[in-house]
Amino acid sequence: MRVLPLVLTAPLLAFQGCVAASFRYSVDKTGLFLQEDPKINPNPPSYADTNFGLLNRTYETDASFDPSGQKTQWERFANYVAGLNKDAAPGVSYKVLYMARHGEGYHNVAQTFYGADCWECYWSQQTGNGTTTWQDAELTPKGYAQVRAANAFWRDTALTSKIPFPQSFYVSPMARCLATANETFATLGVWDGSRGFAPVVKELLRETLNACTCSWRHPKSWIHARFPTYRFEPDFSEDDVLFRPGIVTEYANSTAQRVRVRRLLDDVFTGDNSTYISFSTHGVVISPILEVIGYPNAGFSLGTGQVIPVLVRAEKVSDGPGGEAVVGGPVAAKACGVCGPAGGK
Ligand SMILES: *[C@@H]1O[C@H](CO)[C@@H](O)[C@H](O)[C@H]1NC(C)=O
Ligand SMILES: *[C@@H]1O[C@H](CO)[C@@H](O)[C@H](O)[C@H]1NC(C)=O
Ligand SMILES: *[C@@H]1O[C@H](CO)[C@@H](O)[C@H](O)[C@H]1NC(C)=O
Ligand SMILES: *[C@@H]1O[C@H](CO)[C@@H](O)[C@H](O)[C@H]1NC(C)=O
Ligand SMILES: *[C@@H]1O[C@H](CO)[C@@H](O)[C@H](O)[C@H]1NC(C)=O
Repeated sequence: MRVLPLVLTAPLLAFQGCVAASFRYSVDKTGLFLQEDPKINPNPPSYADTNFGLLNRTYETDASFDPSGQKTQWERFANYVAGLNKDAAPGVSYKVLYMARHGEGYHNVAQTFYGADCWECYWSQQTGNGTTTWQDAELTPKGYAQVRAANAFWRDTALTSKIPFPQSFYVSPMARCLATANETFATLGVWDGSRGFAPVVKELLRETLNACTCSWRHPKSWIHARFPTYRFEPDFSEDDVLFRPGIVTEYANSTAQRVRVRRLLDDVFTGDNSTYISFSTHGVVISPILEVIGYPNAGFSLGTGQVIPVLVRAEKVSDGPGGEAVVGGPVAAKACGVCGPAGGK
């Protein structure tokens, strides 16, 4: 595979966001969620059927908070987390990240239809096949059903279980994630005229930068026209300056994705004092986050429309950026002729 010269400086700078401190991340409190156990990976239960995966247990903070055992598991968990933050040393904080993978998109269906290799080397680099389109793929009907189930979860289960509602929301700029966030949260009763659902659209949450046209995003004005209440992070560009046709900028075995999600976490932990934070993003963003935070089950892989909650500890190590370098430059995408089930037509 040809390694391209590093002409990527400008686009990567566009990825950096504002100046953030850098943190060391860890998952130092375990035994909290069933998703921590690698044994569930072959057949993971849905978040929606398992109280979000929160295990039934006691916390050392229960005795004073809930002496007569009246509170829900989530209320006692939230009290435990509040205690961790209250007692934390300077520069240390804990946040609960609710990380959602978008519902099924047309690119997911097409990848299965064509098979991974044929998809990668030919069809993913097309905008569609005449029947369906996957450039900045939309949700399929199944994808919509998945994220409407998430809406029901927040509307019903979360209220009964008293799951802390996210205090801030971030969304990938890809159409499938914008719609996932909208369908999940926008119609909930918590919003009123003065306080509509207004997640922040963030480049660092977007799809891996590869040659799939599903990694290209629409212009800012298109996003704004569809979702007028959504906000944009500072310097969000009108046009997509990161996607490059035929080029894999963040290839799967490079450090690029880990460097990117570290920047994302540094940005969020620097600028957001919320404890409960929602990300609407992609599996390929959630996986490296699990690695970077040292999640006990970093191999956990989310199906479309699934969500994972994690309790993360962050300790500030510097007031400036971490400066971790990407190892492995951008490469030309694999290329081949028309292939797959309908390829011989
Ligand atoms: C946890 O407790 C709830 C309420 O008592 C119960 O319905 C549920 O089955 C328990 N879950 C597990 C995994 O034991
Ligand atoms: C295009 O891809 C979809 C799957 O994404 C498949 O169902 C359809 O048959 C394909 N169309 C053609 C013309 O091959
Ligand atoms: C956002 O979600 C609501 C509720 O399902 C829906 O009515 C609306 O059309 C959605 N907006 C977009 C742009 O998809
Ligand atoms: C990535 O994979 C390619 C081939 O699949 C290999 O040649 C290259 O050394 C790998 N790079 C890293 C950083 O592991
Ligand atoms: C969080 O930050 C906002 C401003 O960014 C501030 O108004 C608010 O008081 C802060 N909340 C806490 C709990 O520190």
